Amino acid sequence: MIDPQKIRQDFPILRRVVHGDKPLVYLDSAATSQKPQAVLDAIVQYYTNHNANVHRGIHVLGDESTKMFTSARDTIAKFFGADSDELILTRNTTEGLNAVVYSWVESHIRKEDTILLTEMEHHSNIVPWQRFAKRTGCSLEYIRVSPDGELDLQDLKKKCTKHIKLIAVAHVSNTLGVINPITDIVELAHTVGAKVVVDGAQSAPHMPINFHTLECDAFAFSGHKMLGPMGIGGLVVRKEMMNEMDPFLFGGGMIREVTYEETTFADLPDKFIGGTPDVASTVGLATACEYLTKLGMDQVFAHDHELVEYALEKLSTVDGVNIVGPMEAKKRCGSVAFTYTGVHAHDVAQILDSEGVAVRSGHHCTMPLHEKFGWIATTRASFNVYTTKEDIDALVRALAKVKKVFSRV
Ligand SMILES: Cc1ncc(COP(=O)(O)O)c(C=O)c1O
Repeated sequence: MIDPQKIRQDFPILRRVVHGDKPLVYLDSAATSQKPQAVLDAIVQYYTNHNANVHRGIHVLGDESTKMFTSARDTIAKFFGADSDELILTRNTTEGLNAVVYSWVESHIRKEDTILLTEMEHHSNIVPWQRFAKRTGCSLEYIRVSPDGELDLQDLKKKCTKHIKLIAVAHVSNTLGVINPITDIVELAHTVGAKVVVDGAQSAPHMPINFHTLECDAFAFSGHKMLGPMGIGGLVVRKEMMNEMDPFLFGGGMIREVTYEETTFADLPDKFIGGTPDVASTVGLATACEYLTKLGMDQVFAHDHELVEYALEKLSTVDGVNIVGPMEAKKRCGSVAFTYTGVHAHDVAQILDSEGVAVRSGHHCTMPLHEKFGWIATTRASFNVYTTKEDIDALVRALAKVKKVFSRV
């Protein structure tokens, strides 16, 4: 089992105090994770000693930078159980999902087709499809979420017809915390010839991901949620689909030959690297992948499970707290969100912050899901490898202050 107390020593930011004398209790990792010293050092080291543009300069630094970039890409692909030429580097999950629209959907989905989403999707996995559907007239449908916060698989079966050309689904919901059964969804989707795109923003930080055994067609993730820097992420794509994808950024770097009239494109993966890539962040993300691999993703997942179980148990004893999503820890991952009877989530978060406890409040970019369940807003506590049960105890203690403040109102 991993030792979060020991891990915390690798994260300098966790030594901070806030509001004068309150030790920081960081429970907002689903929004962005903190970064270990090794990742910070890798970025500084790159800019201090190796900085040069890749693929372009025939000089020592250009060569070093290119080698570091290529090796970092390989490390990231391997972390996801993918081959190097199955990885397109993006800025984040949002860009990965948009890339599927521009590179594949534009040329493969027609007016009479349907794209299937779920009611629990993050805006990043709704808006790009909605915009495409509005532009082309194709249909969008949503798989229902049951009252206890799980995907309704009967509804999926009913809706998964031959009109469906693509299903886009979160691996783990950032609001309900529920883990969706991707392999079952893929199996069903492939029987009707539909592609499956997985939003892995909330699963990649916590679970072992093997892209090949998951069998989906594309998987998008954000580096900043998995101990890496902001501004780097990726889209892993099956070779069959990759070969059908057009570049979505045109310009320098991604070409083989350009004349005044015509352009031919570079081979994979350069074909998808339009312009100068963020080499330092790629190197930083590779370092984060190495850090997680050293901990062991099975152990990371087991640690998360323990925290989720503990949080469900402790929070369900707090007066006024109503947990959203399934109550069985084994169905969940990464976070626990709740409403607080009679108190707006922003007020809850503000009181928690005054005690040094950082959580997220609002709709967490799942406005339609909040609307469906009639939640004005929710408060979310979320975890990562450095989170301890003591952090959850601190949350529960700080929630007592919410009751105290609002019973006076
Ligand atoms: C489930 C889910 N999908 C997509 C995203 C978008 O991630 P990013 O802002 O890094 O693109 C998030 C971010 O919180 C998320 O939780």
